[in-house]
Formats: sequence, C-alpha cells, structure tokens
Amino acid sequence: MNATPNLSSAQHLKEEISRLKKEKNALIMAHYYQRDEIQEIADFIGDSLALARRAARTDADVIVMCGVNFMGETAKILCPDKVVLIPDTEAGCSLADSCDPVEFENFVKQHPDHTVISYVNTSAAVKALTDIVVTSGNARKIVEQLPQDEKIIFGPDRNLGEYINSVTGRSMLLWNGACHVHDRFSLEKIAEMKKAHPRAKVLVHPECRRPLQLIADKVGSTAALLDFAAVDDAPEYIVVTESGILFEMRKKCPGKVFLPAPADDAECQCNECDFMKLNTLRKVYEALRDGKPEVQVDPAIAAKAIRPIERMLEMSE
Ligand code: 13P
Ligand code: SF4
Repeated sequence: MNATPNLSSAQHLKEEISRLKKEKNALIMAHYYQRDEIQEIADFIGDSLALARRAARTDADVIVMCGVNFMGETAKILCPDKVVLIPDTEAGCSLADSCDPVEFENFVKQHPDHTVISYVNTSAAVKALTDIVVTSGNARKIVEQLPQDEKIIFGPDRNLGEYINSVTGRSMLLWNGACHVHDRFSLEKIAEMKKAHPRAKVLVHPECRRPLQLIADKVGSTAALLDFAAVDDAPEYIVVTESGILFEMRKKCPGKVFLPAPADDAECQCNECDFMKLNTLRKVYEALRDGKPEVQVDPAIAAKAIRPIERMLEMSE
C-alpha cells in the first residue's frame, strides 16, 4: 500500500516533485526571477530567450513553466503538442498588460509601412500582430540585421526601445509601455548606493529608465548581466533589476558581493516582481500531480504568433 507522502516540508515537496517529474517525463523550467527554492529544483534556469530556445528543443512530454503567463504561452506556441503547465495562472506581467492588442493593432494600422518588432513580454494576441519578436537578450542583434533605413515600430517597453535606439542609431517608433518593477528604480537611490560602495559596478536591465542605462557599467538582459559579472574583476556590484537574479549571481560568483538596488516609489520600495513570486514549490507540485493549470492559446492566434517567434530564434542563432 502506498504511504501518503508528508508534504508539510519543503524537502518532501522537492522529493515528490522529483518523483512526479520522472513519472510524467516533465521538464521544469524557471526564470531567474523565480523564488530561490524553485530555481533549486528546476531542470533549466534562464532568461526569456534561453527559456524559449530550450522549450523549442525539448523532448519532454510536459513543460512546467515557472515564470509568468507570456513565457508559458511562448512555450505552448512553440510546442503545440506538449502539455505546458504554469503553476499559477495569476502570474501576469505589467509590461505585457501595458499593451492592449486592440490599441496596438490600431497603432500598427496607422503606420502600415513599418516593420513591427515586439518584446517577448507580450500577449499571444500582440505577437500575432508582430513581424519579429525579440527579447532583451537579442533585440540589438536582430534590429542590426534590418536595413538602416527600415521603419520600425517597437513595443511595448519604451525603456528597452530607447536603449536599442541609442545603441543602433535607429529612431524606432516606441509604444509607451513599461514594467512596474524596473520602472521604479531611480538614479537618486543608485547614486546613494554608489557613494556607500564606491568600488561597486552598476548592472542595469534595459527595462530600467534611460538615466540608469546611462550610468551603468553594464546594460543587459538577466543572462547578459550574469555573464558580465562572471568574467569581470570588480569585487562588488549594485544590481538594478528584479532581486531574484541574486540567487544565481551568488551561486556563479561566490567570492563577489551583489547588492540589490532598492526601488524608489513612495508606495513601494520593493524590487521583487509580485507576479514571478506567485509560483511556489507547493503549486509546482500540485501542477505536476494534477496536470493543470494547462496553458492554452487560441489556435488561430497561435498560427499567426509562431512565425515572429521563429524569426526571432532564426535571427538570434
Ligand atoms: P529577460 O529574462 O529577457 O532578461 O527579461 C526580464 C524580464 O523582465 C522577464 O520578465
Ligand atoms: Fe513583467 Fe516586469 Fe515581472 Fe518581468 S519583472 S514579469 S517584465 S512585471
């Protein structure tokens, strides 16, 4: 007779997740902003680009996407025959929400001679209106492959768009969207930290505002910031992005000090993404056990959204 597992402790949850994973031939993927304990049990941890790439080549039957909804949707669009589970369907994204598909379609229609580039942090419906999807890890490389005089719409993140305009010399038309986490870091707070830690280098995600990009020692996607810290010789870093990344940074660079930058908002000093942190070990366990919640994408939308995602993967090889 099977004993009922004691699931009151994190250790037991981890053991059950490991057992179910084998039983169901599942792959657990996690973004760097996930809780530490989820990064610990994941088979693969990555930035948005790496997660999409890994999903595209998996032979698992089930993908458990520990991230937010648009990451689950991207995996489902790339792997329509697989079961894609997301531990909490409330894990949305303020940046994706800042781009309503109907309003975006009107914007696109007003500029019919423009190529439409969308950040992966968008709904499947917005991707379906897009020519090429990008992530913060490949946006520059992809834009640079287009002719210098090509007219481009870039959405929805205006901070990333400004950054790409500045490094490529383009003047892409920008959608006015932002991520609530990255948009609340301020120059003033980072300057205060820099005063207290003069030897620290400043690592900035391009979803942060332009003044922060300008004072950064490195601007890059989560994976690019990690790679920079791993080869750079500074002893300390001020990390201006979601604080979940510190788990992997400290693991990769045990001798270095990583200081999370505080947000600068009258209501919230928090540098965590509340959507990303909705996923817990228990929810991962329950998703694997029950085979739900399963990500579903309207097949008509998925049929249009697959091409710009594939173009991204081709152009960033
Ligand atoms: P990257 O994983 O591309 O760095 O994006 C960060 C982010 O905000 C994901 O939601
Ligand atoms: Fe979206 Fe920002 Fe959270 Fe990333 S950190 S999932 S962009 S709200």
